[in-house]
Order: sequence, then structure tokens, then C-alpha cells
Amino acid sequence: MIKLAIQESMLQFARTHPQQKYLFFGGKGGVGKTVLAGAAAVGLAGMGKKTLLASTNPVHSLSGLLDQDVFGKATPVTGVANLTALEIDTHDTIERSKVEIREKIDWFLKFAEIRGKADEFIETATMNPAFEESAMFENMIDLIFEDVYEAYVFDTAPTANARRLLGMSSVYSLWVNKMMESRREAQATRLSLSYSKKQEKDPLMDYLLSFRQRMKNAKEILTDPERTAFFFVTLPEALPIAVIKRFIGWFHEFGVPVGGVVVNMVIDPDQVDENADEFVLNRVAMQGEYLKQIEAEFDGSVRAVLPLFETEVRGVEMLRRTAKLLFA
Ligand SMILES: Nc1ncnc2c1ncn2[C@@H]1O[C@H](COP(=O)(O)OP(=O)(O)OP(=O)(O)O)[C@@H](O)[C@H]1O
Ligand SMILES: [Mg+2]
Repeated sequence: MIKLAIQESMLQFARTHPQQKYLFFGGKGGVGKTVLAGAAAVGLAGMGKKTLLASTNPVHSLSGLLDQDVFGKATPVTGVANLTALEIDTHDTIERSKVEIREKIDWFLKFAEIRGKADEFIETATMNPAFEESAMFENMIDLIFEDVYEAYVFDTAPTANARRLLGMSSVYSLWVNKMMESRREAQATRLSLSYSKKQEKDPLMDYLLSFRQRMKNAKEILTDPERTAFFFVTLPEALPIAVIKRFIGWFHEFGVPVGGVVVNMVIDPDQVDENADEFVLNRVAMQGEYLKQIEAEFDGSVRAVLPLFETEVRGVEMLRRTAKLLFA
């Protein structure tokens, strides 16, 4: 197979991180994140861990990968003991969030004695693109807090979403702190103006407090290198390498533990005849150069190198085969 020194393999990493529980797979679009999340989940389930494979990617593909409908409901994967899969229903999550937000806004409008319809406020609050992402994030941490499984493998959205998802927990707490400050001021003013001098119950403040606590708990988990690891998938090609380099930099900034790099779709030069088509020989040579770059750039953190298979990766049998190579 490919000559790329692996100092600590995926399997060794799992052994040096026995408490590893939350695994994420990120990288450029189309590099094999869903396939590798699936393979990792199959591998962990095979090690006897009760595992959940969940997709937080609004464009789902787990059902396709598994040849089984896992949309909207945690579903045991046929043919794999210990494995359950779930594609989070974004639409459903957003509708539920809207209901929650409506309650809060209704209350707030009454409290602030503002006449107006909650609807207008809800539209502005929920129409922005970050709303969907934050709804997905909430859903993901709900799964984590339920704590039903021994291992969680998340197939995350491509590009920057994954990073925003986590950056959001920091932004959230800043935002909540700010909100609480103004709530306190508003309450103080109200108190000084009212005759009763009686502190009112403040559901909005209660909500902010519990929300901040949730975010704090989530952040604690997501930044714990014993329990959490983000794996980055790349191909031996310029763009996917550039993308994960950027990601890794960002994640270090946020204090999110990087588990390592998985190189996917590598053509084994030993399998290629020297008289092969020029197109193939060129690709093999190109991959060789980028593999050298990967070795130099991600020194010590390459966890696995996977071959380009003769077909796409679909179905449980193919995932088992991929899992074997991933944890070789
Ligand atoms: N090692 C491999 N050999 C052959 N085909 C592969 C390999 N890895 C992935 N594939 C195929 O490549 C395609 C893209 O893989 P996958 O869907 O996992 O990528 P992704 O990073 O999740 O994409 P997206 O960004 O769209 O979510 C799929 O058809 C998959 O079966
Ligand atoms: Mg995918």
C-alpha cells in the first residue's frame, strides 16, 4: 500500500484515548466525510460500543450510505450490532425552535408593554441563515446530553459550517451575557418606577440562565480532548489539503481537539501497471507529490490512508471493509 509513515493510527489513537466518545468528521465537500463517519461508527460498534451515527448536515446522505431510511428517527442499522443511525430532521427542529421563540417573544412583548404581533419578530429572528445552523447545533447537543450511547459519530456539514457550529457556543455565551446585563438593567429600572417594589418573576431571564448553562456544558464536552476528537478528511490534492489546513488552524483557536487527518481515495501505485494509461500514471504521480506534502504538513497526525475503491462506498458490507482499513 501507500508509503506514508503513520506514527499513531486511528486504532492507536482510540487506545490512547479510552474515553473517546464524540467523533466528528469534517473536510471539503465530497472528500468522503459521510463514508468515513459511517466506517468509524461501524468500527466502534464492532468494538462493542453502543454507537450512534448522526448527521447534522442539512443535505443528508446517511440513508443512502446505509441503504436504509434513518431520517428523523434514531433507527437500528440492519446487519450491524450496537449501531443506530439518525439523520436529524432540520425542518422539524426549526419548527420546534419557532414555537419556543414565539413563547418567549410573546411574553417579552407583554412584559415590555409593546403592542405588536410576535409574528413579525419571529420572522426576523428565524429567517436568517444562522438560525438553521443554530437549530442543528441545539439538536446535536440535545443528543449528547441525552447520553444514551457510548460513542457518537457526527457527520458534519462541509465547508465552514462545522467550525461555525462550535464557534457558536462561544458567541452564544457572549450574547447571553450581554442580554442578561440589559435584562438586569431593565428590571432595576422597572423596579425603581413601580409602586409595589416587588421583584417580578422573569421567565426570559430564567431562560437565558438555563441556556447559558447548556452552552457551558456543551463547550466543556466539545473542548475536552479526552472525550472529543475532530477528524479531518482530505484527498491527496491541493484544495482539500488547503481546506483542512485552515480548519485545523481555526479549531486550535477555538480549543477544539483535533484528532487527526485521514487521507482518502489514494491510488496504490503498486496496483498500477507502468504501461497504464497516461491519465492514470499522471494521477498517481500527482497523488505522490501531495502525499509528500501531507506528510510534511500534518506531521504525526495522519491516522489512516484509505485507497480509492473500485466502486463507491455503499451498504453495510462495503462500510465494514472501509472500517477495517480505517482501524488497521
Ligand atoms: N475511498 C473511496 N473509494 C471510492 N469511492 C469513495 C471513497 N470514499 C468515498 N467515496 C465515494 O465518494 C463520494 C463522496 O463521498 P461522501 O459522500 O462520503 O463525501 P462527503 O465528504 O460526505 O460529501 P459532502 O460534502 O457532499 O457531504 C460517494 O459516492 C462515496 O461513495
Ligand atoms: Mg456527506
